[in-house]
Amino acid sequence: MKLSQFGERFCAESGTYNLMDDLGKALTTNPEMLFLGGGNPAQIPEIEQEIQQALETLVKKTGGVGRLCSNYQSPQGDPSFLKALAAYLNKHCDLSISEKNIAITNGSQAAFFVLFNMFAGEFANQQKKHILLPLTPEYIGYSGAGLSEDFFRSCKPVIEHLPGNLFKYQLDEHAIEQHITSCLEDSTNTVGTLCVSRPNNPSSNVIADEQIEFLTKLAKQYDVPLIIDGAYGLPFPGILFNDAKISFTDNTILVLSLSKLGLPGARTGIVIANPEVIQAFAIANTSINLAPSSLGPALAQTWFETDKIHHLCHHIIQPFYRSACDSALGLVKSACADFPVHIHIPEGAFFLWLWCQDLPISSQELYQRLKDRGVLVLSGHHFFLGVEEDWPHKHQCIRLSYCQPAAVIEQACEIIRQELKKAYEGN
Ligand SMILES: Cc1ncc(COP(=O)(O)O)c(C=O)c1O
Repeated sequence: MKLSQFGERFCAESGTYNLMDDLGKALTTNPEMLFLGGGNPAQIPEIEQEIQQALETLVKKTGGVGRLCSNYQSPQGDPSFLKALAAYLNKHCDLSISEKNIAITNGSQAAFFVLFNMFAGEFANQQKKHILLPLTPEYIGYSGAGLSEDFFRSCKPVIEHLPGNLFKYQLDEHAIEQHITSCLEDSTNTVGTLCVSRPNNPSSNVIADEQIEFLTKLAKQYDVPLIIDGAYGLPFPGILFNDAKISFTDNTILVLSLSKLGLPGARTGIVIANPEVIQAFAIANTSINLAPSSLGPALAQTWFETDKIHHLCHHIIQPFYRSACDSALGLVKSACADFPVHIHIPEGAFFLWLWCQDLPISSQELYQRLKDRGVLVLSGHHFFLGVEEDWPHKHQCIRLSYCQPAAVIEQACEIIRQELKKAYEGN
């Protein structure tokens, strides 16, 4: 098989592919595996019931099947869904947007591919631009999304130690500003856009409102967009454990998803931005995907029209994950009590991020040992995209998902404790 440069680049094994493949294979070879890896949302009975009900109502309705799957949608998505969503966002998030500000995609992953390559890569006059991730670690799914080399740069965070063996990554505002200005001086490879996930996958960090304001001002000053990935966040599914506010300006591109609500298979992403960006995005997205998904919008539309989504997020989804998080945090803390292991303060999403300080083995080795013992986690090194220097912290972190029942987390924690003991004792 002779491959083009695109083929060479995109058909080579990627970190994201390897990870997804490894997770899949581990489960096939050992169905008993204690699965604390992957990004699947939890199966929340009330949400499953809502989905089933929405599906049944739609199928019974005249024209319902057409809405579900037997029509191509227009490039931005079903106009009636866009209208319902805009009205919902205006009402609940104090926005002032219309259908012209929204485009639907086949999952938000596909949206990042288009957006990243719209704003970074090769430009006229042989200039290059890259994506700046202001805070690393960051979502591994971004890593394969660039059509050119040297696509991501990132800034290391400041680590703030908190009581109870917790810590928090803080933006290093000085380093971020310095990065942007030094790129401008060099001028051959400048910043094309900033991008943050909020809450962050993997650490669960929620960048504070003031820091989002700082990034917003910075992006405006340097005339680049600020992409905020709200896959777990605001306004839906709202898996946040503090009172962070949604932020949206003319220069923000907010990327949302129905996946973490409980619909990852419906592949529905949502891009919210100024109409000029949306128009350009929809044209590019049509070339790549022809039409966006209709399943997710058809299922969720009445949730937005009737404000049900507000209830689902605030009274079912958020409390479910809050309680799962509290219980997992207690278990993990006692499993790690004898070791210099710090846990990122859980602020949202559904992961615990463990920093095993001075770990004598790499996090990849710890991952492998845990996998051999039937516990699947993720090694943290995958998430430090754009960090070239050999920072020991990159190899000292693991990510645990707490979407599984408490009994599974408890069993896994005991094995994690045993493996940490072994590793810290030099075995
Ligand atoms: C931070 C983040 N952004 C985006 C995505 C992509 O989600 P989807 O393509 O299902 O909308 C994920 C998936 O896990 C994620 O964790």
